[in-house]
Amino acid sequence: MIASSWWPVIAMSKPKVFVSFPVLPSVRALFEARAQACFNETQRVLTSSELLAAVADCDAVFVTATDRIDAALIAALPASVRFLGTYSVGFDHIDLAAAQQRGIAVLYTPDVLTDAVAETAMLLMLGAMRRATESIDLLRSRRWQGWTPVQLPGKQLTRKRLGVFGMGRIGRAIATRARAFGMEIHYHNTRRLPPELELGAQFHATVENFLSHSQVLLLACPLNAQTQYFLNAARIAQLPQAAVVVNIARGVVIDDDALIPALQSGRIAAAGLDVFSNEPNIDPRYYALPNAFILPHIGSSTLEAREAMACVLLDGVEALRSGVPASNRLI
Ligand code: DGY
Repeated sequence: MIASSWWPVIAMSKPKVFVSFPVLPSVRALFEARAQACFNETQRVLTSSELLAAVADCDAVFVTATDRIDAALIAALPASVRFLGTYSVGFDHIDLAAAQQRGIAVLYTPDVLTDAVAETAMLLMLGAMRRATESIDLLRSRRWQGWTPVQLPGKQLTRKRLGVFGMGRIGRAIATRARAFGMEIHYHNTRRLPPELELGAQFHATVENFLSHSQVLLLACPLNAQTQYFLNAARIAQLPQAAVVVNIARGVVIDDDALIPALQSGRIAAAGLDVFSNEPNIDPRYYALPNAFILPHIGSSTLEAREAMACVLLDGVEALRSGVPASNRLI
């Protein structure tokens, strides 16, 4: 009997991928299962020339937020590289125009880390409002004398006005969680959202009006020329007295020389910060501030998010190699 299925099966070969950043073991296994993957084994950020030397013959290069993918590097990529994926939702480190000019498709990892970042934002908000830095320090320094009703009174989230600056996927996921804490949501965005996404949040067309309503200001915007150093001294002056500032966007959205004195004076009651200018060498004045609850850029750092981020980059490359659009394609 003649086999009914005689069509030749054309199995597309696995893409050859260079991964520029350290990966968790399960993420490594995911990359290895679906790609001919090579890894940066140095545990440090590669220089441009090291990266270029490593990507010869690759179809795709996967980088992350600590890599600077500028026009010169993109111009020097070998012709085999058709896909550039960033293992991050932020893409301010990539010269998109240069990639477009070279005809390189750029992929990123939206959606899959939204919940992880939103949870970190709640942690920052609670940590700042409930004086977590002072509480932990009191206990760990063994200075705690026991419970008293005057010990470290914080502020509740309940009934506070949360001002979300940047009401994209992550801003909206934080708003959802903040509503459950009884907060009233206000926002400023490049454009007003439709009612089904706004979900009752109050849109402010002007930054001034938005800031004056923000008892808790949450920075959740992408970094670009408009948002760099957005929170400066003039804008801090527009916030309510003793407002709280939370940043899960990028460090340079805040002017440290404006925020730090405001935290020192109490004009800003507290800050919850996961991102900083010049990471990891952050402004050392933050270490001395009892009202700064600071985390080392762990916003999306969950096992679930890290594995899903690998999958969406691989999905995107596989789709594009098969001539199918990729939902996580930036350009
Ligand atoms: C992101 O995904 O952009 C995180 O901040 C890591 O840089």
